[in-house]
Amino acid sequence: MVCLGNICRSPLAEGILKSKVNAEQVMVTSAGTAAYHIGKGPDIRSVKVAKEHGIDIRLQKARQFKAADFEVYDYIFVMDQANFDNVVSLASTEKEKEKVQLILNEISPAMNSEVPDPYYGGEDGFKNVYDMLDLACDAINKKISI
Ligand code: 4NP
Repeated sequence: MVCLGNICRSPLAEGILKSKVNAEQVMVTSAGTAAYHIGKGPDIRSVKVAKEHGIDIRLQKARQFKAADFEVYDYIFVMDQANFDNVVSLASTEKEKEKVQLILNEISPAMNSEVPDPYYGGEDGFKNVYDMLDLACDAINKKISI
C-alpha cells in the first residue's frame, strides 16, 4: 500500500487489508514515496478512524518505498496518480511496472479514480478515505484469496 507520506492513507489501507486477510498467507505492508515522515507513526486522524472500526494501526512506522520492494511484493496498490508515476519510475522491468495499480481500480476498473489526500483537511476526509479503502480492500481480499 503506497501513498505520499505513509502517515495518512497507506497506513489505513495496510490496517484494513490486514484485518481481512489470513496473515499466514498474505503479507501486507505500506510505504510512502516521499521521505518526509520516515520513522513516524500514523497521523492521529488515521489512528482515530481506524480505531472507530476496531483496527489498531498505532504500531506502524512510516518508511519510503524502494526499488527492492518490487522483488518482495506481488501487488503494489497506490492511492493516486502521482504515487503511481513515482513508483513506476523506480521499476526496472515491464513485469515490475505491471505490479503497480491504482487501488480504486479494484472497485471501478480503469476509472483511474484517486484516494484523495486528506492531510490538509478535516476528520470527514479521513472517514471518506476509510470507506473507499474498505471497499477496495474487500475487492482485493476476494481477488487474492486462495
Ligand atoms: P499521505 O498524506 O500521503 O496519505 O500519508 C500526506 C501526509 C503528509 C504530507 C502529505 C500527504 N505532507 O506533505 O507532509
